[in-house]
Amino acid sequence: MRKSVFFAILLASLAALCTLSPAQAPIKYQPTIESLDRHPLPQWYADAKLGIFIHYGLYSVPGWAPLSHPDHDFQTTDYIVNNPYAEWYLNVMRIPGSPTQSYHREHYGANFSYYDFAPVFNRESKKWNPDQWAATFREAGAKYVVLTTKHHEGFTLWPSTTPNPSATLPSNSQHAERDIVGDLTTAVRKQGLRMGLYYSGGYDWTFNTGPILTTADYEAVKPETEAYGRYAFAQIHELIERYHPAVLWNDIDWPRTGKPMQVEADYYNAVPDGVVDDRFGIAHTDFTSPEYQKLDQISPKKWEECRGLGRSFGYNRAEGEAETIAPEELIALLVDIVSKNGNLLLDVGPEADGTIPPVQMERLKALGAWLHQNGEAIYGTTPWTHAVGKSAEGDDLRFTRKGDDLYVTVLGKPKGQTITIQDLPAKSGVQITQLGDHNELSAKVQSGETRIVLRTPLQGEYAYAFKLAGYAR
Ligand code: GLC
Repeated sequence: MRKSVFFAILLASLAALCTLSPAQAPIKYQPTIESLDRHPLPQWYADAKLGIFIHYGLYSVPGWAPLSHPDHDFQTTDYIVNNPYAEWYLNVMRIPGSPTQSYHREHYGANFSYYDFAPVFNRESKKWNPDQWAATFREAGAKYVVLTTKHHEGFTLWPSTTPNPSATLPSNSQHAERDIVGDLTTAVRKQGLRMGLYYSGGYDWTFNTGPILTTADYEAVKPETEAYGRYAFAQIHELIERYHPAVLWNDIDWPRTGKPMQVEADYYNAVPDGVVDDRFGIAHTDFTSPEYQKLDQISPKKWEECRGLGRSFGYNRAEGEAETIAPEELIALLVDIVSKNGNLLLDVGPEADGTIPPVQMERLKALGAWLHQNGEAIYGTTPWTHAVGKSAEGDDLRFTRKGDDLYVTVLGKPKGQTITIQDLPAKSGVQITQLGDHNELSAKVQSGETRIVLRTPLQGEYAYAFKLAGYAR
């Protein structure tokens, strides 16, 4: 290439670089709230609406908890002793007289320590097929996945190179023999989904063994030593560098000794379109994370409800049909959350060999079938002027919007042959269809309300989404 041409191209690209506005230049995040707050919410996360949470660990071996406290009233001592979260097995088995302690002694004996589950877990998890999970989650309509890498028990699902100085954890029981985090990350990305990682920064029962017996212990058992701060800081950087997670989902809190703002700045600099939750104990967050709670109205701040399909995040062999959210309720929950600017992070609790309980598989299938027909009213939508409505016929309605189009979803079977929406003044030139049925529906315009005349039979089940094309123009 002639020298002159080469220099011309070089000059042109340098000129182009100089014209780049500061907005386009990648932000270099600093460990300050001001800098972290400059992080924009990535569009993929805003649009995703549904993620799958997976609680997998040593607790998946015993896989048991009492079927109590369906309302998850964490702030009672009775809750702590009868904790329905099976992933808290290590804490509850050490509470004298707790049902979990009796279960453990009956099934494993008093001398069987919790970390004796490690060899069983390692053997069983070798049978696990990550591609099967990933395909199941895609078919359920999820756009991202969040896997527990280290829960409160301290055992890691990746071959961490950060030594755990605590004597509690036998050296051969610190990590899974298989790189479960790596294997699932590969499988999930192969399915076109994003991969996020959960880390329990606030509790590590190998550093501060607890147990948590009273509500005051919720705070007291958080490790804050320099050693733990260094350990957590090193491990979270391993996860960022090895797996580049799309979601950094920290739990409970983050040790002050572990430099939470530095962690988030390093994360954003490594994964600019990644998101962090609100459990790092600092003021910055990309989303809030209510647990087994939904919001009553539209939240301007992005939020994500996390909950199990049953009452537990970890596998609980005692849970069955009755304890598992019904398909209609699950779909209504998703639509309600999305209409209020939220995402749902829906948890599955697999057995140690990776088997997802059949009742949970059924719910994922029902959700996937519904989203296959009605996903247009969910993915990539934003809230309307209001989230909740009631038709004159008494139907429970939720509103979502995408550009000029408004979506009205009826939760449950419509009560009549029409859906009359009073707070939706009729507009001309609006085409109304039911998602999944291309035939245009007629709408009666009278006294300013919108009255949709239904075709029978209605397509689908559980909830019915109608598109009012151009209504939001
Ligand atoms: C709570 C529970 C924990 C669970 C997490 C999920 O922090 O302690 O077991 O993993 O919520 O949101």
